[in-house]
Amino acid sequence: MNDQPQSAAPPLISPDDFAMVADLLKRMTGIHIGGNKRAMVSGRLAKRLKALGIGSVDAYCTWLQQPGNATEQDAFISALTTNMTRFNREDHHFTHLADRILPNLAAAARAGRRVRLWSAACSTGEEAYDLAFRTLDACPEAARLDLRILATDIDKAALEIARAGAYPASSLTDLPAGYAERHLDRGAGRNGMVRVAQAPRDLITFRCLNLNGEWPFHGGFDVIMCRNVTIYFDDDTQARLWQRLADRIAPGGALYVGHSEMLPEPIARRFTQQERGAFCLPRDVSPDPAHRRADVPP
Ligand SMILES: C[S@@+](CC[C@H](N)C(=O)[O-])C[C@H]1O[C@@H](n2cnc3c(N)ncnc32)[C@H](O)[C@@H]1O
Repeated sequence: MNDQPQSAAPPLISPDDFAMVADLLKRMTGIHIGGNKRAMVSGRLAKRLKALGIGSVDAYCTWLQQPGNATEQDAFISALTTNMTRFNREDHHFTHLADRILPNLAAAARAGRRVRLWSAACSTGEEAYDLAFRTLDACPEAARLDLRILATDIDKAALEIARAGAYPASSLTDLPAGYAERHLDRGAGRNGMVRVAQAPRDLITFRCLNLNGEWPFHGGFDVIMCRNVTIYFDDDTQARLWQRLADRIAPGGALYVGHSEMLPEPIARRFTQQERGAFCLPRDVSPDPAHRRADVPP
């Protein structure tokens, strides 16, 4: 999960080693890495091999796949995923959510309905907290209602940061005016870090989930944000995932996709309103078993 520039470029791994790593990563996560990423992969793997005292990529890959090696499998995934994110990224999505979607969802939750939002590749948590901030602005009593946010990612190290909810003060400057006062812990800014307040933290459940694997929950979501992750998958993997996500959007709900992502045309056509990565379903779309409310923890 290292997005930092490398200080001294390590030697490139061989094309065969690169192909072995790429194949392993694809099978484990669905991520496709092209040959132009050989330097990046070499740098990130060099750190793992050095930390473990393993002399070759071949030996590392063989060892990695042995039963009982789940911890290193997580470290491998974490090393090769890109977690770049920030607060209020593509702020027009949050404006759309606040203006067009959340007022109805707040009313529905107040009327006793189950409401679920999902940040589907949440990385270090900023996107999920952005959802929580807007949700609390629209519905300050959300914690007392059946309104929850699920936030998932495949990278367990990123999820640790997300769960802690503490960020460098400098990373919070993108938040709209007034957010720090309302949603961050005042007085908790030791070592230049600021922690998200308890109320937004309480709305979110963070879970490890491979988007290309089984999903251990049923039913629909009122909002899904799945942004800047399908760009790492090949076309077939992307198409399968968009189909699965679109099937999970409940009537009146919205699917948000990243600025360089696009739903395949037949899937996009299901959504009546489409603007700048926001795809909305009308509220009166015919009920479908797949549109039941999501059965997600807690
Ligand atoms: C560039 S970040 C995007 C974060 C956030 N959605 C945003 O737009 O700012 C991509 C995230 O996707 C996650 N990811 C990659 N492959 C995944 C998979 N198969 N299942 C779940 N998450 C995955 C990575 O771990 C990473 O945290």
